[in-house]
Amino acid sequence: MSRLKNKVAVITGGNSGIGFGIAEAFKKEGAVGAITGRNEATLNSSVNALGTGFIGIKGDVTRLADLENIFRTTADKFGKIDALVVNAGGIVDGVPMAAINDVTEENYDRYMDLNLKSAYFTVQRSLPYLNEGASIILIGSSAAHRAAPGMAIYSAAKAAIISLAKGLSLDLLAKKIRVNTLSPGSIDTPVFGKIVPQEQLEQVKQTWIDHTPVGRQGLPSDIGNAAVFLASDESSFIVGTEILSDGGLTNISLMK
Ligand SMILES: NC(=O)c1ccc[n+]([C@@H]2O[C@H](COP(=O)([O-])OP(=O)(O)OC[C@H]3O[C@@H](n4cnc5c(N)ncnc54)[C@H](OP(=O)(O)O)[C@@H]3O)[C@@H](O)[C@H]2O)c1
Repeated sequence: MSRLKNKVAVITGGNSGIGFGIAEAFKKEGAVGAITGRNEATLNSSVNALGTGFIGIKGDVTRLADLENIFRTTADKFGKIDALVVNAGGIVDGVPMAAINDVTEENYDRYMDLNLKSAYFTVQRSLPYLNEGASIILIGSSAAHRAAPGMAIYSAAKAAIISLAKGLSLDLLAKKIRVNTLSPGSIDTPVFGKIVPQEQLEQVKQTWIDHTPVGRQGLPSDIGNAAVFLASDESSFIVGTEILSDGGLTNISLMK
């Protein structure tokens, strides 16, 4: 219950799905800090559900001024930051993922802005507020390794995240800041409701279950548990690499 005792954490996109699961796991292990998101209603309900020790900060991760406000506000309240989870991302509002013939230049840019550029600048803007020895966890995706219909741009952005963890770890060695990627497989979160019509939801989730060797979708708590490890000093020798938490989706084939 105290693997993150007194550590200050920021979890972007902590008001939903995987980010909230990570916040719950961090809180359980004694961390305090901030969750962020744009939706004020889910931000408030998530902060209430977490209880004391966490605040909600409204912000769009594609805006540098919002990123600065997130880190300044957290440091003003709690002091310097020990763990940063760069989780906000996924679907761009109102722009479904699509195959190449249906993608406009604007939509390409919006996906890359949310899933790659925002991650880079989240890290950059956090730096003045991070403690020496801090852990940065970039949320990647098994999609970086395995193509799925319509997901080429998203997958490429997440593949670049894996590379960023290496390059940024090198940049930040002198401050003993570790950067790693934590890549989920298919996790049961509200994201599916953003892309799939309600009547097809269960069928789409079942398809992912059928493709996942352990026979279930992951839970936000599965990713939370792995994130606790990466944020804690237990992982102090793990730097610039990727941990997959995907029920075997990437590396095990179910082909008979
Ligand atoms: N679920 C999966 O199967 C899966 C698999 C692999 C990787 N992932 C990755 O895991 C992360 C979380 O996904 P999820 O499944 O938990 O999805 P989710 O429930 O839809 O959560 C997405 C989060 O990102 C935030 N967000 C989105 N755009 C934002 C923006 N412009 N500025 C600030 N915050 C923004 C959302 O908050 P607001 O809407 O309030 O801004 C929300 O908190 C994403 O990076 C996703 O790519 C998910």
